[in-house]
Amino acid sequence: MQRSRIVGTGTYLPEKVVTNDDMVKLYGIETSDAWIRERTGIGKRRLAAPGEATSDMAAAASRKALEMAGIKPEDLDMIVCGTVTPDMPFPAAAVFVQAKIGATKAACFDVSAACAGSLYALAIADSFIKSGGARSVLVIGAELLTRIMDWRDRNTCILFGDAAGAMVLVAETREGHGLLSTHLHTDGTQAHILNIPGGGSAKPFSPEVYEKREQYVKMNGREVYKTAVRVLEACSREALDRNGYKPNDVTHVIAHQANLRILEAVLKRLEIPLEKCHLNIEEVGNTSSASVPLTLDQANRQGALKPGDLVLMMAIGGGMAWGSALVKW
Ligand code: UT7
Repeated sequence: MQRSRIVGTGTYLPEKVVTNDDMVKLYGIETSDAWIRERTGIGKRRLAAPGEATSDMAAAASRKALEMAGIKPEDLDMIVCGTVTPDMPFPAAAVFVQAKIGATKAACFDVSAACAGSLYALAIADSFIKSGGARSVLVIGAELLTRIMDWRDRNTCILFGDAAGAMVLVAETREGHGLLSTHLHTDGTQAHILNIPGGGSAKPFSPEVYEKREQYVKMNGREVYKTAVRVLEACSREALDRNGYKPNDVTHVIAHQANLRILEAVLKRLEIPLEKCHLNIEEVGNTSSASVPLTLDQANRQGALKPGDLVLMMAIGGGMAWGSALVKW
């Protein structure tokens, strides 16, 4: 069976660093470095510059991934961007990326699956390559979440950072290697535990929405936490079972970095040592859909991923939407 292969990865992080102490001193949030570190493992995050948009970050990450892949933008068949913070409600962020990098013949669209966006995009790209519908696809996770945070809500604003990550997929030519399978799941009955209630068609932007600050992210952290631990374990086991592997066979875990405690709990349940999980949450916080490609790129550029390594990917976000993928590198 035709499989797809990740041949290029890239990351973009905005220049500005905001530490936990800065959140208190510069932004007046009633919190502390100790509280944030203990509950989340986050030490700092990046903030996009004024005037910088999601597609700017996405284009920068994409150029690096294409350069590594040795593929010209004009040869791409498709760009799929996982994002809930596109430059504007429409058109898609992916179309701005197309124009910025010159991917003239690529079909471009966004996928809305919050922090699971890049895994959803990866699964779509993989399906197109498997079916022969595309030969090379640029998969992006790009998120400018600090612009949709309520900077008066300490429950949420301390968690997120801005970033973009990209992956280039082509058809796999090596027997037994490549993307083995992807597994996507959604529970729409939990839409209320992590969302932006105002500013859409259900509740168009109005003075009331503004008054209640409903144009910003609302989250029930406890519920998100409980769901995340349960379903990330389940979808990881699903990916391993499907391909006849055991948790012990995993060489690297590339996971959405929502919270260090979530990752510790999931890996403990799976009995996979935390050392196998590439971590950057301390440095960049929760970068939503950028998290998986960014973490993969860091591991890739460090030379940690060797041919034949088994890479388990997992992510969860608002929806709730979650998924996993297994790659024989
Ligand atoms: O990609 C998915 C994104 N979402 C997540 O990953 C979130 C998952 N959830 C979590 O990580 C945790 O629920 C949080 C880190 C968000 C919160 O931790 P928690 O242990 O669930 O705390 P809590 O919400 O139950 O709040 C405990 C206390 C409260 O004070 P009282 O009522 O006990 O006096 C909060 O008001 O901590 C207070 N609190 C804070 N204190 C200092 C909430 N946020 C902060 C803060 N600094 N930033």
